[in-house]
Amino acid sequence: MQKPGTELLNDLIHKISGLSTIDALKYLSARFAGEVTFSSSLSYEDQVITHDILQNNIAIEIFTLDTGRLFAETYAVWNSTNERYHTHIKAYYPQHSPLEKFVEDNGPNAFYQSVELRKQCCYIRKVEPLQRALQGKSVWVTGLRAQHSDARNHLPKLEWDEVNQIIKFHPLLHWSSEEVKEYVSANNIPYNPLHDKGFVSIGCAPCTRAIKSGEDFRAGRWWWEDANKKECGLHSTS
Ligand code: ADX
Ligand code: SF4
Repeated sequence: MQKPGTELLNDLIHKISGLSTIDALKYLSARFAGEVTFSSSLSYEDQVITHDILQNNIAIEIFTLDTGRLFAETYAVWNSTNERYHTHIKAYYPQHSPLEKFVEDNGPNAFYQSVELRKQCCYIRKVEPLQRALQGKSVWVTGLRAQHSDARNHLPKLEWDEVNQIIKFHPLLHWSSEEVKEYVSANNIPYNPLHDKGFVSIGCAPCTRAIKSGEDFRAGRWWWEDANKKECGLHSTS
């Protein structure tokens, strides 16, 4: 979309402040009818948002980026979510030609060889499909939380994403892990069983491991890289 003026952004921030997650999602879906989309990685927080959207029939599209390297448990929770809410979460896939070339040139596990190859893999499998998923949309809803990292701790709940030219909304930004867990349990929401095994942030299987108590929230993602290189390009500011 075209970059909105500060007035529009401030108005939106003002309108949603104080609203519950459900009411804020309803408000945005009415104000930007057909132009609000939610990206779900099927993780704990994303399942909360999926539940709120589907249980309340809010007109927001839900999509996932299927990199082809997700955990079996992630596909299982995707399936049980479809069944529970009688829905079909839309999947975006990498384009086959660049992926085939990348694997042919670098092998199936190139991400361990260098940060550059890892970022190329993330670009082909996640970032390019994301760009297609956001096309024609005005608002992108995510499950980012402040607790995830220092960078996310400084995010506003609603912001302009310069890279993707879209308004981003993070309804659970200030929820704690405990609140997410309690909401999932109280509403009997299907969730990824890896969360019970020390996996807090769940991405692709070869690039995610469980964390030990006391370790940083994102320590289990791309753990072989320097902490300051750990981003995949989905979220430019976080
Ligand atoms: S990442 O930047 O490290 O990959 P993270 O796993 O923390 O992201 O998830 C943060 C948010 O990014 C999720 O709540 C979700 O909105 C989006 N996201 C991450 N991975 C995916 C995916 N595979 N499909 C759709 N959305 C995703
Ligand atoms: Fe590739 Fe790992 Fe990025 Fe997934 S997280 S797209 S497997 S580098």
